[in-house]
Amino acid sequence: MNKIIEEAKEKFGKVLEAQLKRVEKINQTKEFIDYKSLDKIIIGVVGGDGIGPYITAEAEKVLKFLLDGKPVEFKEIDGCTIENRAACGKAIPDDVLEELKKCHVILKGPTTTPRAGDPWPNIESANVAMRKELDLFANVRPVKVPDQGIDWTFYRENTEGSYAVGSNGIHVNDDLAVDFCVTTTEGSERIARAAFEYAKKTGKTRVTAVTKANVIKTTDGKFLKICQDVAKDYPEITLDDWYIDIMTAKLVDPKRRTEFQVLVLPNLYGDILTDEAAEFQGGVGTAGSANIGKRYAMFEAIHGSAPRMVTEGRAKYADPCSMFRACVMLLEHIGYTDIAKKLETALDICMYQEKKYVITGRDTGVTGAEFSQYVMDTIKSL
Ligand code: IPM
Ligand code: MG
Repeated sequence: MNKIIEEAKEKFGKVLEAQLKRVEKINQTKEFIDYKSLDKIIIGVVGGDGIGPYITAEAEKVLKFLLDGKPVEFKEIDGCTIENRAACGKAIPDDVLEELKKCHVILKGPTTTPRAGDPWPNIESANVAMRKELDLFANVRPVKVPDQGIDWTFYRENTEGSYAVGSNGIHVNDDLAVDFCVTTTEGSERIARAAFEYAKKTGKTRVTAVTKANVIKTTDGKFLKICQDVAKDYPEITLDDWYIDIMTAKLVDPKRRTEFQVLVLPNLYGDILTDEAAEFQGGVGTAGSANIGKRYAMFEAIHGSAPRMVTEGRAKYADPCSMFRACVMLLEHIGYTDIAKKLETALDICMYQEKKYVITGRDTGVTGAEFSQYVMDTIKSL
Protein backbone atom coordinates (compact mmCIF):
# COMPACT_ATOMS: atom_id res chain seq x y z
CA MET A 1 0.00 0.00 0.00
CA ASN A 2 2.71 2.50 0.97
CA LYS A 3 4.58 1.83 -2.24
CA ILE A 4 1.48 2.56 -4.31
CA ILE A 5 0.89 5.80 -2.47
CA GLU A 6 4.51 6.86 -2.85
CA GLU A 7 4.33 6.21 -6.60
CA ALA A 8 1.12 8.20 -6.89
CA LYS A 9 2.66 11.06 -4.88
CA GLU A 10 5.55 11.16 -7.28
CA LYS A 11 3.20 11.41 -10.25
CA PHE A 12 1.18 14.07 -8.45
CA GLY A 13 4.38 15.99 -7.86
CA LYS A 14 5.05 16.00 -11.61
CA VAL A 15 1.53 17.25 -12.31
CA LEU A 16 2.03 20.13 -9.88
CA GLU A 17 5.42 20.96 -11.34
CA ALA A 18 3.97 21.17 -14.86
CA GLN A 19 1.08 23.34 -13.70
CA LEU A 20 3.32 25.75 -11.80
CA LYS A 21 5.50 26.07 -14.91
CA ARG A 22 2.37 26.88 -16.90
CA VAL A 23 1.51 29.67 -14.46
CA GLU A 24 5.00 31.11 -14.94
CA LYS A 25 4.45 31.08 -18.68
CA ILE A 26 1.09 32.82 -18.38
CA ASN A 27 2.78 35.57 -16.41
CA GLN A 28 5.40 36.09 -19.12
CA THR A 29 2.96 37.20 -21.84
CA LYS A 30 1.25 40.35 -20.71
CA GLU A 31 0.10 42.13 -23.88
CA PHE A 32 -2.19 41.07 -26.70
CA ILE A 33 -0.66 41.08 -30.18
CA ASP A 34 -1.46 44.22 -32.20
CA TYR A 35 -2.49 43.15 -35.70
CA LYS A 36 -2.25 46.74 -36.94
CA SER A 37 1.48 46.72 -36.32
CA LEU A 38 2.06 43.77 -38.70
CA ASP A 39 3.06 44.13 -42.37
CA LYS A 40 0.83 41.21 -43.14
CA ILE A 41 -1.32 38.81 -41.18
CA ILE A 42 -0.59 35.12 -41.73
CA ILE A 43 -3.73 32.99 -41.68
CA GLY A 44 -3.01 29.28 -41.22
CA VAL A 45 -5.58 26.86 -42.62
CA VAL A 46 -5.88 23.38 -41.11
CA GLY A 47 -8.42 21.08 -42.80
CA GLY A 48 -8.60 18.43 -40.09
CA ASP A 49 -10.44 15.11 -40.43
CA GLY A 50 -13.70 13.73 -41.78
CA ILE A 51 -15.83 16.54 -43.21
CA GLY A 52 -13.19 19.04 -41.95
CA PRO A 53 -11.27 19.46 -45.23
CA TYR A 54 -14.55 19.91 -47.15
CA ILE A 55 -16.08 22.63 -45.01
CA THR A 56 -12.71 24.32 -44.34
CA ALA A 57 -12.04 24.60 -48.09
CA GLU A 58 -15.38 26.40 -48.51
CA ALA A 59 -14.59 28.75 -45.64
CA GLU A 60 -11.14 29.49 -47.07
CA LYS A 61 -12.70 30.27 -50.46
CA VAL A 62 -15.07 32.79 -48.88
CA LEU A 63 -12.28 34.33 -46.76
CA LYS A 64 -10.03 34.74 -49.80
CA PHE A 65 -12.90 36.36 -51.68
CA LEU A 66 -13.53 38.79 -48.81
CA LEU A 67 -9.86 39.61 -48.16
CA ASP A 68 -8.83 40.01 -51.78
CA GLY A 69 -6.15 42.73 -51.97
CA LYS A 70 -5.65 42.94 -48.21
CA PRO A 71 -2.24 42.37 -46.57
CA VAL A 72 -2.86 38.79 -45.55
CA GLU A 73 -1.19 35.52 -46.49
CA PHE A 74 -2.89 32.14 -46.41
CA LYS A 75 -0.76 29.21 -45.30
CA GLU A 76 -2.21 25.74 -45.75
CA ILE A 77 -0.94 23.39 -43.08
CA ASP A 78 -1.15 19.65 -43.75
CA GLY A 79 -0.43 16.80 -41.40
CA CYS A 80 -2.92 17.54 -38.65
CA THR A 81 -4.91 14.46 -39.68
CA ILE A 82 -5.76 11.59 -37.37
CA GLU A 83 -3.69 9.22 -39.58
CA ASN A 84 -0.57 11.34 -39.26
CA ARG A 85 -1.14 12.16 -35.61
CA ALA A 86 -1.57 8.47 -34.84
CA ALA A 87 1.57 7.58 -36.83
CA CYS A 88 3.60 10.19 -34.88
CA GLY A 89 1.90 9.24 -31.60
CA LYS A 90 1.31 12.93 -30.91
CA ALA A 91 -1.74 15.11 -30.56
CA ILE A 92 -0.01 17.61 -32.84
CA PRO A 93 3.11 16.45 -34.72
CA ASP A 94 6.16 18.66 -34.08
CA ASP A 95 6.47 19.91 -37.66
CA VAL A 96 2.78 20.86 -37.71
CA LEU A 97 3.17 22.77 -34.44
CA GLU A 98 6.17 24.60 -35.86
CA GLU A 99 4.10 25.67 -38.89
CA LEU A 100 1.20 26.74 -36.67
CA LYS A 101 3.54 28.94 -34.67
CA LYS A 102 4.53 30.81 -37.83
CA CYS A 103 0.94 32.03 -38.22
CA HIS A 104 -0.93 34.80 -36.45
CA VAL A 105 -4.38 33.28 -36.66
CA ILE A 106 -5.59 29.83 -37.63
CA LEU A 107 -8.74 28.58 -39.30
CA LYS A 108 -9.20 24.99 -38.26
CA GLY A 109 -11.59 22.26 -39.37
CA PRO A 110 -12.77 19.65 -36.87
CA THR A 111 -10.25 16.95 -35.93
CA THR A 112 -11.09 13.45 -34.80
CA THR A 113 -10.49 12.81 -31.10
CA PRO A 114 -9.72 9.15 -30.38
CA ARG A 115 -11.27 7.52 -27.37
CA ALA A 116 -10.78 4.10 -25.81
CA GLY A 117 -11.99 1.39 -28.20
CA ASP A 118 -11.28 3.38 -31.39
CA PRO A 119 -8.81 1.97 -33.92
CA TRP A 120 -6.48 4.89 -33.12
CA PRO A 121 -4.00 5.13 -30.25
CA ASN A 122 -5.51 7.07 -27.37
CA ILE A 123 -3.66 10.35 -28.08
CA GLU A 124 -4.85 13.67 -26.70
CA SER A 125 -7.39 15.68 -28.69
CA ALA A 126 -5.72 17.97 -31.24
CA ASN A 127 -8.10 20.77 -30.21
CA VAL A 128 -7.16 20.51 -26.59
CA ALA A 129 -3.45 20.25 -27.42
CA MET A 130 -3.58 23.28 -29.73
CA ARG A 131 -5.38 25.35 -27.11
CA LYS A 132 -2.70 24.43 -24.57
CA GLU A 133 0.34 24.76 -26.88
CA LEU A 134 -0.73 28.16 -28.19
CA ASP A 135 -2.21 29.21 -24.83
CA LEU A 136 -5.62 30.00 -26.32
CA PHE A 137 -7.28 30.68 -23.02
CA ALA A 138 -10.62 32.18 -24.05
CA ASN A 139 -13.09 30.07 -25.95
CA VAL A 140 -15.69 32.53 -27.18
CA ARG A 141 -18.94 31.01 -28.43
CA PRO A 142 -21.81 33.27 -29.46
CA VAL A 143 -25.35 31.92 -29.82
CA LYS A 144 -28.17 34.03 -31.25
CA VAL A 145 -31.83 33.37 -31.97
CA PRO A 146 -33.18 36.89 -32.57
CA ASP A 147 -36.87 35.98 -32.79
CA GLN A 148 -36.68 34.26 -29.40
CA GLY A 149 -34.70 37.04 -27.77
CA ILE A 150 -31.63 34.84 -27.36
CA ASP A 151 -28.30 36.65 -27.60
CA TRP A 152 -25.65 34.88 -25.55
CA THR A 153 -21.88 35.04 -25.63
CA PHE A 154 -20.08 32.31 -23.74
CA TYR A 155 -16.58 32.89 -22.40
CA ARG A 156 -15.40 29.37 -21.70
CA GLU A 157 -12.05 29.05 -19.94
CA ASN A 158 -10.07 26.95 -22.39
CA THR A 159 -6.81 25.73 -20.86
CA GLU A 160 -7.57 24.72 -17.27
CA GLY A 161 -10.26 23.03 -15.18
CA SER A 162 -10.78 19.34 -15.90
CA TYR A 163 -8.91 19.66 -19.21
CA ALA A 164 -5.54 20.86 -17.90
CA VAL A 165 -4.40 17.37 -16.90
CA GLY A 166 -7.17 15.52 -18.76
CA SER A 167 -4.82 13.02 -20.43
CA ASN A 168 -2.58 12.54 -17.39
CA GLY A 169 -4.79 11.39 -14.57
CA ILE A 170 -3.41 8.71 -12.25
CA HIS A 171 -4.42 5.06 -12.08
CA VAL A 172 -3.29 4.64 -8.49
CA ASN A 173 -3.98 0.90 -8.62
CA ASP A 174 -6.55 -1.33 -10.35
CA ASP A 175 -9.30 0.00 -8.12
CA LEU A 176 -8.56 3.68 -7.89
CA ALA A 177 -8.32 6.27 -10.66
CA VAL A 178 -7.85 9.98 -9.99
CA ASP A 179 -8.24 12.92 -12.36
CA PHE A 180 -7.40 16.51 -11.58
CA CYS A 181 -9.23 19.79 -11.85
CA VAL A 182 -6.95 22.82 -11.95
CA THR A 183 -7.78 26.47 -11.31
CA THR A 184 -5.14 29.18 -11.22
CA THR A 185 -5.42 32.81 -10.23
CA GLU A 186 -3.85 33.93 -13.51
CA GLY A 187 -6.03 31.63 -15.62
CA SER A 188 -9.27 32.66 -13.95
CA GLU A 189 -8.45 36.32 -13.91
CA ARG A 190 -7.70 36.54 -17.61
CA ILE A 191 -10.92 34.78 -18.68
CA ALA A 192 -13.02 36.84 -16.27
CA ARG A 193 -11.42 40.03 -17.53
CA ALA A 194 -11.95 38.99 -21.16
CA ALA A 195 -15.65 38.43 -20.45
CA PHE A 196 -16.07 41.78 -18.69
CA GLU A 197 -14.08 43.65 -21.34
CA TYR A 198 -16.30 42.16 -24.03
CA ALA A 199 -19.41 43.11 -22.07
CA LYS A 200 -18.12 46.65 -21.65
CA LYS A 201 -17.15 47.01 -25.31
CA THR A 202 -20.51 45.79 -26.57
CA GLY A 203 -22.65 47.66 -24.04
CA LYS A 204 -23.90 44.57 -22.21
CA THR A 205 -25.05 45.05 -18.67
CA ARG A 206 -24.69 41.61 -17.18
CA VAL A 207 -22.07 38.89 -16.83
CA THR A 208 -23.10 35.53 -15.39
CA ALA A 209 -20.54 33.22 -13.77
CA VAL A 210 -21.48 29.54 -13.93
CA THR A 211 -19.81 27.10 -11.54
CA LYS A 212 -20.57 24.32 -9.10
CA ALA A 213 -18.87 26.19 -6.26
CA ASN A 214 -21.27 24.71 -3.70
CA VAL A 215 -19.70 21.27 -4.21
CA ILE A 216 -16.43 21.72 -6.08
CA LYS A 217 -15.43 24.20 -3.44
CA THR A 218 -11.73 24.64 -4.01
CA THR A 219 -11.33 25.10 -7.75
CA ASP A 220 -14.80 26.36 -8.68
CA GLY A 221 -14.84 28.40 -5.49
CA LYS A 222 -11.62 30.09 -6.58
CA PHE A 223 -12.94 30.71 -10.09
CA LEU A 224 -16.09 32.36 -8.72
CA LYS A 225 -14.19 34.44 -6.17
CA ILE A 226 -11.91 35.79 -8.90
CA CYS A 227 -14.90 36.63 -11.12
CA GLN A 228 -16.32 38.58 -8.16
CA ASP A 229 -13.00 40.40 -7.66
CA VAL A 230 -12.70 41.31 -11.34
CA ALA A 231 -16.34 42.51 -11.34
CA LYS A 232 -15.34 45.29 -8.91
CA ASP A 233 -13.43 46.95 -11.77
CA TYR A 234 -16.64 47.13 -13.82
CA PRO A 235 -19.22 48.83 -11.61
CA GLU A 236 -21.53 49.44 -14.58
CA ILE A 237 -21.89 45.70 -15.17
CA THR A 238 -23.80 43.33 -12.86
CA LEU A 239 -22.28 39.97 -12.02
CA ASP A 240 -24.59 37.19 -11.00
CA ASP A 241 -23.65 33.61 -10.27
CA TRP A 242 -25.43 30.38 -11.08
CA TYR A 243 -24.71 26.71 -10.59
CA ILE A 244 -24.23 24.68 -13.71
CA ASP A 245 -27.11 22.28 -13.02
CA ILE A 246 -29.78 24.95 -12.68
CA MET A 247 -28.23 26.97 -15.52
CA THR A 248 -28.61 23.95 -17.79
CA ALA A 249 -32.31 23.91 -16.84
CA LYS A 250 -32.79 27.66 -17.18
CA LEU A 251 -31.50 27.69 -20.75
CA VAL A 252 -34.69 25.87 -21.71
CA ASP A 253 -36.89 28.27 -19.72
CA PRO A 254 -38.16 30.67 -22.42
CA LYS A 255 -38.76 33.52 -19.96
CA ARG A 256 -35.58 33.31 -17.94
CA ARG A 257 -33.10 32.53 -20.72
CA THR A 258 -33.53 35.84 -22.53
CA GLU A 259 -32.01 37.59 -19.49
CA PHE A 260 -28.56 36.06 -19.93
CA GLN A 261 -26.02 38.06 -21.93
CA VAL A 262 -22.38 37.15 -21.32
CA LEU A 263 -21.58 33.91 -19.48
CA VAL A 264 -18.17 33.05 -18.04
CA LEU A 265 -17.43 29.51 -16.97
CA PRO A 266 -14.77 26.87 -16.35
CA ASN A 267 -13.72 24.61 -19.20
CA LEU A 268 -15.91 21.51 -18.81
CA TYR A 269 -19.13 23.37 -17.98
CA GLY A 270 -18.43 25.62 -20.96
CA ASP A 271 -17.98 22.61 -23.20
CA ILE A 272 -21.32 21.13 -22.20
CA LEU A 273 -23.42 24.27 -21.92
CA THR A 274 -22.34 25.63 -25.32
CA ASP A 275 -23.51 22.48 -27.12
CA GLU A 276 -26.87 22.83 -25.42
CA ALA A 277 -27.00 26.53 -26.26
CA ALA A 278 -26.09 25.97 -29.93
CA GLU A 279 -29.03 23.58 -30.24
CA PHE A 280 -31.48 26.53 -29.93
CA GLN A 281 -29.83 28.17 -32.90
CA GLY A 282 -30.14 25.13 -35.15
CA GLY A 283 -27.51 22.78 -33.76
CA VAL A 284 -23.78 22.65 -33.34
CA GLY A 285 -23.41 22.74 -37.14
CA THR A 286 -24.42 26.40 -37.11
CA ALA A 287 -22.07 27.63 -34.39
CA GLY A 288 -18.56 29.02 -34.68
CA SER A 289 -16.00 29.22 -31.95
CA ALA A 290 -13.03 31.50 -31.32
CA ASN A 291 -10.05 30.37 -29.26
CA ILE A 292 -8.21 33.51 -28.26
CA GLY A 293 -4.80 33.88 -26.70
CA LYS A 294 -2.46 36.85 -26.34
CA ARG A 295 -0.19 35.87 -29.25
CA TYR A 296 -2.28 33.39 -31.27
CA ALA A 297 -5.93 32.82 -32.05
CA MET A 298 -7.70 29.88 -33.65
CA PHE A 299 -11.18 29.78 -35.15
CA GLU A 300 -13.17 26.60 -35.62
CA ALA A 301 -16.55 24.90 -35.72
CA ILE A 302 -17.87 23.68 -32.38
CA HIS A 303 -18.80 20.26 -33.76
CA GLY A 304 -16.79 17.15 -34.56
CA SER A 305 -15.48 15.65 -37.79
CA ALA A 306 -18.59 13.54 -38.62
CA PRO A 307 -16.65 10.62 -40.16
CA ARG A 308 -19.95 8.86 -40.90
CA MET A 309 -20.82 11.53 -43.48
CA VAL A 310 -17.60 10.66 -45.30
CA THR A 311 -18.10 6.89 -45.22
CA GLU A 312 -21.66 7.35 -46.44
CA GLY A 313 -20.41 9.53 -49.31
CA ARG A 314 -22.14 12.66 -48.03
CA ALA A 315 -19.12 14.83 -47.19
CA LYS A 316 -19.75 17.29 -50.01
CA TYR A 317 -23.19 17.98 -48.49
CA ALA A 318 -21.71 18.88 -45.10
CA ASP A 319 -22.82 22.27 -43.79
CA PRO A 320 -19.95 24.79 -43.87
CA CYS A 321 -21.93 27.42 -41.92
CA SER A 322 -20.18 26.72 -38.61
CA MET A 323 -16.88 27.48 -40.35
CA PHE A 324 -18.35 30.61 -41.96
CA ARG A 325 -19.40 31.78 -38.50
CA ALA A 326 -15.84 31.07 -37.34
CA CYS A 327 -14.65 33.28 -40.22
CA VAL A 328 -16.86 36.13 -38.99
CA MET A 329 -15.09 35.92 -35.64
CA LEU A 330 -11.66 35.66 -37.29
CA LEU A 331 -12.29 38.77 -39.41
CA GLU A 332 -13.54 40.70 -36.40
CA HIS A 333 -10.57 39.59 -34.34
CA ILE A 334 -7.95 40.77 -36.83
CA GLY A 335 -9.64 44.14 -37.17
CA TYR A 336 -11.71 43.77 -40.37
CA THR A 337 -14.94 44.59 -38.58
CA ASP A 338 -16.80 45.86 -41.66
CA ILE A 339 -15.96 42.77 -43.68
CA ALA A 340 -17.00 40.57 -40.76
CA LYS A 341 -20.33 42.39 -40.60
CA LYS A 342 -20.86 41.82 -44.33
CA LEU A 343 -20.29 38.10 -44.00
CA GLU A 344 -22.53 37.91 -40.95
CA THR A 345 -25.34 39.76 -42.75
CA ALA A 346 -25.02 37.47 -45.78
CA LEU A 347 -25.10 34.40 -43.55
CA ASP A 348 -28.23 35.60 -41.76
CA ILE A 349 -29.91 36.13 -45.15
CA CYS A 350 -28.83 32.77 -46.56
CA MET A 351 -29.41 30.70 -43.41
CA TYR A 352 -32.48 32.29 -41.85
CA GLN A 353 -34.26 34.80 -44.11
CA GLU A 354 -34.11 34.19 -47.85
CA LYS A 355 -33.10 30.49 -47.69
CA LYS A 356 -32.96 30.16 -51.49
CA TYR A 357 -30.70 27.13 -51.10
CA VAL A 358 -30.80 24.83 -48.15
CA ILE A 359 -28.21 22.44 -46.74
CA THR A 360 -29.61 19.19 -45.38
CA GLY A 361 -26.44 17.12 -45.11
CA ARG A 362 -27.64 14.88 -47.97
CA ASP A 363 -28.57 15.08 -51.65
CA THR A 364 -31.97 16.49 -50.71
CA GLY A 365 -30.15 19.83 -50.28
CA VAL A 366 -27.33 21.71 -51.99
CA THR A 367 -23.62 20.96 -51.57
CA GLY A 368 -21.31 23.00 -49.37
CA ALA A 369 -19.70 24.44 -52.52
CA GLU A 370 -23.09 25.54 -53.89
CA PHE A 371 -23.93 27.12 -50.55
CA SER A 372 -20.66 29.04 -50.36
CA GLN A 373 -21.31 30.36 -53.88
CA TYR A 374 -24.75 31.47 -52.63
CA VAL A 375 -23.09 33.26 -49.70
CA MET A 376 -20.56 35.01 -51.98
CA ASP A 377 -23.29 36.05 -54.44
CA THR A 378 -25.28 37.42 -51.52
CA ILE A 379 -22.25 39.39 -50.31
CA LYS A 380 -21.85 40.89 -53.81
CA SER A 381 -25.49 42.00 -53.77
CA LEU A 382 -25.26 43.77 -50.39
C1 IPM B 1 -15.24 21.37 -28.22
C2 IPM B 1 -15.04 19.89 -28.35
C3 IPM B 1 -13.69 19.48 -27.74
C4 IPM B 1 -13.73 19.88 -26.28
C5 IPM B 1 -13.37 18.01 -27.93
C6 IPM B 1 -13.32 17.64 -29.39
C7 IPM B 1 -12.10 17.60 -27.25
O1 IPM B 1 -16.10 19.21 -27.78
O2 IPM B 1 -14.47 22.13 -28.82
O3 IPM B 1 -16.16 21.78 -27.53
O4 IPM B 1 -14.14 19.08 -25.43
O5 IPM B 1 -13.33 20.99 -25.97
MG1 MG C 1 -17.63 20.43 -27.04
